[in-house]
This record gives sequence, structure tokens and C-alpha cells, in this order.
Amino acid sequence: MLEDIDRVLLTEEQIQKRVSELGAEISRDYAGKDLVLVCILKGALCFMADLSRNITIPVDMDFMAISSYGASTKSSGEVRILQDLDAPIANRHVLIVEDIVDSGLTLKYLVDNLSARRPASLKIATLLDKPARRLVPIATDYNGFQIPDEFVVGYGLDYAEKYRNLPFIGILKPEIYKK
Ligand code: IMP
Ligand code: MG
Repeated sequence: MLEDIDRVLLTEEQIQKRVSELGAEISRDYAGKDLVLVCILKGALCFMADLSRNITIPVDMDFMAISSYGASTKSSGEVRILQDLDAPIANRHVLIVEDIVDSGLTLKYLVDNLSARRPASLKIATLLDKPARRLVPIATDYNGFQIPDEFVVGYGLDYAEKYRNLPFIGILKPEIYKK
């Protein structure tokens, strides 16, 4: 698995430090509020696990699975819900926990879809942001790192379902997805 990585972009230590800062910020901002963390599966699984453990106020967790790229490195722009939330979010404070904003199409769809359920508030926490590739404007509220226009894997992010279990974020060797 490591032989497929060109170079490490964010080390485990860098990620953990930033995630703990975001957790502290979220704990302050939502103190006294009824907060639901909505993890977007599967990419945000590691971020959700670590972020939630750095939040010091009570939270509910829910999960949503949406269609991904499949074995491609570009968004099709077509988003489908594969698994919906367990519980209604009306009148609750909702924080979407996402791995990366690339074109922005996925988050645009999610924001439209979840807003229609009338939450008390709806915000976005994303670990990574690739601004160079944005097709639709998306305002994120909590942002871990801005990264260059490279295809990255690890810490939940995959290529063709692999590499999610790397503890760091690395740039995949282009020959892996150009094969
Ligand atoms: P968007 O709809 O183009 O913003 O893409 C968002 C989704 O695409 C993310 O939730 C990821 O699952 C996936 N994605 C985008 N860029 C990358 C990347 O560099 N590596 C792995 N997955 C990515
Ligand atoms: Mg993916």
C-alpha cells in the first residue's frame, strides 16, 4: 500500500493537532445547543471518529451514505443517497462532517437536501478543501486544511475503496489511477 504513495501531504501528527483545534472551536460555538454531527460516509469516517472525541459537549451522531466517484478521480456531479439519516433533524443544530470539498457538488446537494428538513442551523466541517477545483461556491464553517489540486488518499479517503486505513494523507502516484 505504501509503495503507491508519491509523498505524504499531511502527517498523522498534523492531522491530529488540527482536528483537536477544530473540536475545541466546535465545543465553544455549540455550548448549550442540541448538536447533531452528520458524518458523510465513507470518506469522513476517520475525521468523524477523531473530531467527535475532541468535542467536549454532548452530541448526537448520525450517518448518511452518498454515491461517490466509483473508481474515478473526478466527480460525476450526480449525487445519490445510498443511506439516509436515522432520525429527523428539524429544529436541531446540524453540523455536516465531510472529508473533502472538491468540485463542491456533493456538499451543494447535501446542503439543499438537509436544509429542506428545517434544521435550527446547518453548518459544514470539512477536513480538506481543494479550492482550485470548485465548480459551485460552498462556504465551509470549519476547515482543516487547504490542499493543492492533487488526488489524495488516506485517513478515510479512498481510491477505488482502497487506502482509507492509512493514518496520514498522501498523494497517490498518478500511475495508479492512470493504469
Ligand atoms: P465534490 O462533490 O467534487 O466536492 O467531491 C466530494 C467527494 O469526492 C468527497 O466527499 C470525496 O469522497 C471525493 N474526493 C474528492 N477529492 C478527492 C481526493 O483527492 N481523494 C479522494 N476522494 C476525493
Ligand atoms: Mg470517495
